[in-house]
Amino acid sequence: MKKYLLTGCCGFIGSNFIHYMLKKYTDIEIYNIDALTYAGNLANLNDITKDTRYHFIKGDIGNKKLVDKLFNENDFDYVINFAAESHVDRSIKNPEIFVKTNIMGTVNLLNIAKKYWLIDKKFKKGKKFLQISTDEVYGSLGQTGLFNENTPLNPHSPYSASKTSADVLVSAYFDTYKMPVNITRCSNNYGEYQFPEKLIPLCFNNAKNLTNIPVYGDGNQIRDWLYVIDHCKAIDLVLHNAQDGEIYNIGGNNERTNICIVQLIIDYVQKNITPSCNDNLIKHVQDRLGHDKRYGIDASKIKKDLGWFPETTFETGIIKTLNWYKDNQDWCNHITSGDYAKYYKKMYEDKGI
Ligand code: NAD
Ligand code: DAU
Repeated sequence: MKKYLLTGCCGFIGSNFIHYMLKKYTDIEIYNIDALTYAGNLANLNDITKDTRYHFIKGDIGNKKLVDKLFNENDFDYVINFAAESHVDRSIKNPEIFVKTNIMGTVNLLNIAKKYWLIDKKFKKGKKFLQISTDEVYGSLGQTGLFNENTPLNPHSPYSASKTSADVLVSAYFDTYKMPVNITRCSNNYGEYQFPEKLIPLCFNNAKNLTNIPVYGDGNQIRDWLYVIDHCKAIDLVLHNAQDGEIYNIGGNNERTNICIVQLIIDYVQKNITPSCNDNLIKHVQDRLGHDKRYGIDASKIKKDLGWFPETTFETGIIKTLNWYKDNQDWCNHITSGDYAKYYKKMYEDKGI
């Protein structure tokens, strides 16, 4: 029975990862520590709360006493750190919490895992600390080229700067203590359970409700979209097969402009949900400060070393995703109740739309 300490799994990628792992393995026990910030939703894991292999702990990854107690009570084989403040726009408004969670929280996990895993100057066999990072640590691309693992780190937003700091610290624990760590850096994920502050679910939600859709600047920025389950498969492979200290890029090989994504969602909603939804909902607003123009991932290293490639085509993945949002409007209404409406009303007023 392998024991996993997973952090931040009431959020988008983590909850998909737990679903994926509990389906794939019988002999695992998962402990999910999540602070349940605005982005964390117990509803994402409603279906597995009675599974005896799953345990939930409400708490902050930066809480020394709590994390120490968890390690004291459990001999964890793996730690995967998904927990983060993850939204670039929020980091522009309020950077401090990004430093606290993304940097200080990560260091706390590293320190306590090291304390319990390092015995007589040697790390116990089979342990692994996996940091879930992002392609945003590399900054922005011009019209050509891709990020590989040797691309210099050049983050621009407070969010990506905090993720970069965490990456450098994780690498430092490998270089200094030979701690068994890996880092994965993925591109933009899409799929089920994504909080509707990110482009795809936000656009779906607004289109369905006939609310204006804010497109930052000209909408020609490019992201490399990766289906979340393909990402989960890559994490599973890296966790179990990668050499200590290695870093892996994970991408969808699927670059699209934002405006192309918005148009696709409007067309879907018009055809399948709200016939009166149309292009008039698109409102070009002031661009995001320091907006990265283009991300694109070279995922050849993970393909060569571990045989991973993005299996899901965008055409299949996006329809699966939008169908899921259509069929799970209760989930969407549930997580957008409370402060969500107030937050976006104010933001749209500020943006003048
Ligand atoms: P998310 O915002 O959906 O979820 C984050 C989760 O972390 C939430 O459940 C939240 O409650 C929890 N959390 C926040 N602060 C915490 C704290 N101090 N202690 C414990 N839990 C805390 O994020 P996501 O999109 O699922 O991203 C997961 C990870 O993947 C993040 O590290 C993010 O940087 C990285 N990432 C995400 C994407 C993407 O496209 N979503 C792409 C690349 C990398
Ligand atoms: O690349 C990986 C990153 O992808 C992750 O590290 C982040 O956690 C994740 O949030 C995501 O960051 P982005 O900033 O790329 O995602 P977001 O969905 O916020 O925006 C995608 C693009 O769409 C970006 O160019 C900004 C634009 N956008 C976004 C929103 C929310 C709009 O034009 N309008 C919007 O309302």
